[in-house]
Amino acid sequence: QAQDAAAGEKVFAKCKACHVADEDKNKIGPSLHGLIGRTAGTHEGFKYSPAMVAAGTGGLVWDEAHLKDYLHDPKAKVPGTKMAFPGLKSDDDIANVIAYLKQFTP
Ligand code: HEM
Repeated sequence: QAQDAAAGEKVFAKCKACHVADEDKNKIGPSLHGLIGRTAGTHEGFKYSPAMVAAGTGGLVWDEAHLKDYLHDPKAKVPGTKMAFPGLKSDDDIANVIAYLKQFTP
């Protein structure tokens, strides 16, 4: 599947109310800087839901496959997550936003 980071930047407009990716800064949601390879629920200084912390303790690490599932249906992937976002319907949008996020994992 094609991954287009520039297209992903446009998709990220849907995330921007709550997240930044190009800086290590928490907003309503945790910073997504350095997300790929990070254990779920572990960004310093962010108060996660117990569900997200438990997912990380249970071994959930944000690789591309898990991100794809989460972004498709956050509440199915992490029941009890406090991320108030219904998910992305388009597989292309998901692949592209992941390509965008990958740029900010050093
Ligand atoms: C958590 C991605 C939209 C609020 C997360 C996490 C990811 C993510 C990967 C887990 C981070 C971690 O474990 O450190 C995205 C993407 C979005 C999006 C790519 C757009 C497509 C939103 C929106 C909001 C939001 C619009 C606010 C309305 C949150 C919150 C959490 C979170 C509060 C913490 C969840 C918890 O502790 O259960 N997001 N998000 N996100 N996001 Fe989003």
